[in-house]
Order: sequence, then C-alpha cells, then structure tokens
Amino acid sequence: MGFLGSVCRCSGALLAIPIAVIVAVMVETPTVTKLEGGPTFEAPADEVPQDATEASKEGPAAPRMGSGSMFDRIAFVYDSTNKWMSLGLDQHWRSTLVKDCLQLQPEDKVLDLATGTADVSILVGQQLRTLGAATDSVLGVDPSSEMLRRGVAKVESSGLDHVVRLVKGDAQDLTSVQGIDAAGTVADPSAGAATGSIDKISMSFGIRNVPDRPKALAEMRRVMRKKDSSRVCILELSLPSGETFLSKVARGFITHVVPLIGWVATMGSGGDEYDYLERSILRFPKPMEFAAELGRAGLPVETITSFAYGAVNLYMAKPEFIGASRTLAALQSLVRQRSVELLTLAMLREKVGKRVDAADVDFSAFGCLHFWIEDRGFGSEVNNLVSAAIACEEFGLHCVVEDEVWNSGRLHTYLQAEPLILRRCPDEGTSRHRPLEVRRDRRVATPGWFAVCKHAKGVSFAKKSKFMRRVWRYTTETRKRIDRLNEELRLPPKYIALQVRRGDKVAGNRKESVQITGMDFAREAQKHLSSSCSVVVVCTDDLTAAEEVGRALRSLGSPAEVRWRSRAEVPANLRNGHWQASYNSLTAKQRIEMTHEFLADVEVLRCAEVCLCTFSSNVGRLVALLRDQRTVSLDITEWTND
Ligand SMILES: C[S@@+](CC[C@H](N)C(=O)[O-])C[C@H]1O[C@@H](n2cnc3c(N)ncnc32)[C@H](O)[C@@H]1O
Repeated sequence: MGFLGSVCRCSGALLAIPIAVIVAVMVETPTVTKLEGGPTFEAPADEVPQDATEASKEGPAAPRMGSGSMFDRIAFVYDSTNKWMSLGLDQHWRSTLVKDCLQLQPEDKVLDLATGTADVSILVGQQLRTLGAATDSVLGVDPSSEMLRRGVAKVESSGLDHVVRLVKGDAQDLTSVQGIDAAGTVADPSAGAATGSIDKISMSFGIRNVPDRPKALAEMRRVMRKKDSSRVCILELSLPSGETFLSKVARGFITHVVPLIGWVATMGSGGDEYDYLERSILRFPKPMEFAAELGRAGLPVETITSFAYGAVNLYMAKPEFIGASRTLAALQSLVRQRSVELLTLAMLREKVGKRVDAADVDFSAFGCLHFWIEDRGFGSEVNNLVSAAIACEEFGLHCVVEDEVWNSGRLHTYLQAEPLILRRCPDEGTSRHRPLEVRRDRRVATPGWFAVCKHAKGVSFAKKSKFMRRVWRYTTETRKRIDRLNEELRLPPKYIALQVRRGDKVAGNRKESVQITGMDFAREAQKHLSSSCSVVVVCTDDLTAAEEVGRALRSLGSPAEVRWRSRAEVPANLRNGHWQASYNSLTAKQRIEMTHEFLADVEVLRCAEVCLCTFSSNVGRLVALLRDQRTVSLDITEWTND
C-alpha cells in the first residue's frame, strides 16, 4: 500500500504539470497589440525581403497551389487531430476571428481562403444566416479536393448550402476556380473572385502554406471592395518568443508534441506532413514581421490578438486604397527619381512625426516597458532604448530589453546596463506585470513606440548625456576586446577623430543623408590641428574613405599623420561602408566581431580631443552624448534627440 501510495502520489504530481499547463492556456486572456499603421508606400523592389515566401525557402519544388496535395493525404484525420493539437481551443480561435474580427453585416460577401474542411466558412455562414443574409454570401477556396469534399459534406449537414459555396482554387490567383461536390467531383474552371467584389476576407491557419505570400496578399487586396468596413482577418500560428515558463512550454509543444500527435493520429502515415507543420511554423515570420509584410502589401494591420502565449495570432488588417501611396504614384510620373526619393522621405517623416505628436500613452498605467531591439544598427537601437529607459526612470517603470533576436547579440554582453536596463522584468509571472510593448518594424510600430519618441523630444542633451554615460559601461570582456582592437592605432594623448559614414545611409536607395566628402573632413580637420594634436584617426567601415581623407589632407599640404584600423577580421565585402542588409546576413559570430569593431570606433571617437562626425547619424549623436570635449557635426549642426 505504501509503495502503491507513493506511485500514485508520484504520477499524480507528474499529471498535475500538463493539467496545469492546459488550464493555464485555457484561462489565459488574449493580449491585443494595437499597431499604428505605418507608412504604406509600396516598398522599392530591393526592400521586399527576398526570403518572404515559402517558395524561396523551400526551393523551386514547392507546388504551385501550396500544400494542397499534402492536405489531401491528412484530410481524413484533420479535424480530430486539430482538436488534440490545440487542446480543443481551435474552434474558439476561429469563432473569435468570425465574431470579433470580421464584424459581419447582412450584405457582406465573404471570402474564406484556405477554407480546408470549412470550419470558418460554416461559422461565417451561420452568423450571416442569423443576420438574414442573401444566398451565396460565403465563398470558401482551397486547393485540396479531399479537405473540400469533407467541407462540402459539413456545409450540407449544417443546412448552409445556399449560403456557403466551396470551390477548388488558389489564394495566389483567384481569377478562376472549380466547383466541387460532396463526392469530390470537380467541375470545369469558372470565374473566381472579381476585382473589388469582396467585403471581408478570412484565412485561418492557411497563409503559412501559401508558396508565394506576397502574391496571395496582392490578390486579397485586388478582390477587396473599397469600403471602410472592409477587412482581412488572418489567424496563424507562430513560434512563441517569450521567455516565461508557459511560452517555453508552448514552444516545446509546437516543436515536439505537435509532430508526435500528427504521427500517432495518422498511424505513422502522415508523419512527414506534421513535421512539415512544425517546419512551416518555424519559418513563418514573427508577428511584427508578418504585420509589416501585410503593410507592404497595402493591408496595414490594426491589431494583433495573441492567444496561447503567442502560439496563435489573429491579424486584423484594413486595406488602404486611397491616400499617400496614390498621391505619390501620381507625382512619380511628374518628377525625377531623386526628387521622388526625397519627397517620399519627407512624407514619411511628416507622417511619422504626426503620429509621434498624437501619441497618447499614459506611462504610469504600466509596470514595465519591454523594448524590442531587432535588426537596425547598434547606434539606432541603443539610442532609442536609452530614450525609453529615461522615460521608465521618470515614471517608475522597469525597462526591459527584448534582445533575443537582436542582430548584434545580447546587450548585456557588451554593456553593464543594469539596473537601468534589465534583462527581464522582475514582475513577470505576477499580476503586477503590466507591460508596455515598444516595438517597431520597418513599416509598423506599437503605440508605445510613438509614446517613447514623443517623450524623448522633451529630453535635453544634458539629461540624455548623463543617462547614456550611466548605461555605457563596457563589460570586462568587451573592454579587453576594444583595447586589443585599438592597439594598432597607438593613440596619442591628443588626436582628432573623424566618423566617416558610408554605406546604405548615404549611397543606398533612400540616400537618407548627404555624403560628406574626404575633402570636407580634411578641411574641417585642418582647423583643429596643432603641434600638440597632429594625428587624425579615421573611424569608418569604408577603408577607401579613410584613404580619401588621407589624400585630401596631403593635397592641402597638411603634415597631419592619418591613421585607421586595418579591420583585418572584417569580411572583404564589408569594408565598403555599413550596409545593414549585408551585416544582417552575416553569421552571429561575425556580427559580434563587427559589433566590437563598431564599439572600438566609438571609443576612439569618445576619447578624441576633437571629434568630427555627422549628427544625421545615430552614431554621431551617441558619441556626442558620451564626450567631455568638443564635437563638431558636418551636416546637421543641432543635436537632436530622435
Ligand atoms: C491547416 S489547413 C487550414 C484549414 C482551415 N482554414 C482551418 O481553419 O482548419 C491549411 C489549408 O491551406 C490550404 N492551402 C494550401 N495552399 C493553399 C493555397 N495556395 N491557396 C489556398 N489554400 C491553400 C490547404 O489545402 C489546407 O486546407
């Protein structure tokens, strides 16, 4: 009995863990992130990520209609397996999509893409029937005959065959579709969804399977009616990124339990398909990235509702048909390319500026602020992070850096920024954890982002400088690496340092900053040279620019000695200025190497007798904050906190 008792207690305790997790997922309140739709100008071709589609990741073998044929093979267990994998919550997520997101009206024409076995189409049909909708109000599209065959049977048994019509078709090209019946008989192709004929689009757990996502998003926009009430609601899985226990459990569930359930449910025959499920989730962009993708397609996302600790996300987007992008397109035909670029930038700045001014977030309503640093330059990310940390100190919030996916590694390996900037919130997992998310992608940002920018505008140089110095304390290891890198410069007590900026900011498509020539720098440097300060150190990731400064000084007859670091460890293709995309594509080790090079430059610039830089650059402004001596900017002369 004693032994049996312990066994029972033991297995009871073991069972308690999964039960607790299931209960936690079930009672979890979904979090809603409101996005300020960012500028939605069509991105120049080279800005659209090349890896945006499943096709490019899976190679040319990806079938034209996505994974339709794969779904044919698992259709027989699809509905029941879904219930197991979602702990019975899948239908709840779909009905949130239909009830809260689509906001149906009786006259709506709804397109349910990747309808599969028609669960969403049926929920929409039921609601429209209650509202007294006309016949044929819902069109469900999917390339898998087997999924559709089951769907048609379900539609018929729900008595919705006059409201819902299921057809075989492809989300990437909705111009033609094929009817299908409950026996699986497929009709000849007929006209699909006409341009501007649809009020609402739903897609649940389908977009991940579409090979050419931008194409499908463009189709969605094409078929949408130009109405205020039009909307696109997309439900999709993601790999939860949080560090809480339950986020980790949710991650483990997707990567280990989901393929196992799939294998068991199909008795081994559908193992590959469920492995595919895991792989496709891992490849799917993070929620903010996908929202940005929708924005680029002219479908700016207004909210993201996250369920199951971030494993399931519901995106609500409204098509943008009028406004800036059209005006710009009209102007483009009238003015030269460079003017278009400048105009685009000016409009972008104005639009963002307006959003910043209109930001209305009460910091004191939150307990902590989570600041996401992802794939911009070090200077830009840290400048903004410090602005957020200043607001936190003022309003008594914990400032947490979310740097799991930061392109430069982890912040605290470089800087001893605690307790001003924490690795995680001490209140996490408790009811005191009231986080303000501060996040920005290229095209979208959370309200917290605009609020931080607005607050930063009122922070003086002196205040930011004091704060930046408290954050800017290198770790012992980083200090050692910086010193080692700068050894070759044999820095004298007094020298002039130049920050010469090249790469995408000055030569990229957008040409956000004016290029300051080697001669401009040389002329300015000459003004500060003296017998006790005769060395010029050029800090640049474009070694040809350093040579250019040297030549310019010589041509002016200057006796100054020009030095720069050889950057021997830097890949050859990255010795021509900072190109963010090339940097982001390096291995993690190389990026960390490059970050130390960058910090070594900051150190040279910080300690110089005179520092010549550009305030249009985050690095220039950051260095100015850290310096005790004179800083001269060769472009914008006023230091700005943005
Ligand atoms: C995970 S199922 C989702 C089904 C249903 N929406 C649901 O909520 O259960 C994914 C569906 O996407 C469909 N699919 C794959 N490629 C597609 C494409 N190019 N266009 C439309 N649907 C596609 C598959 O056939 C499959 O039925």
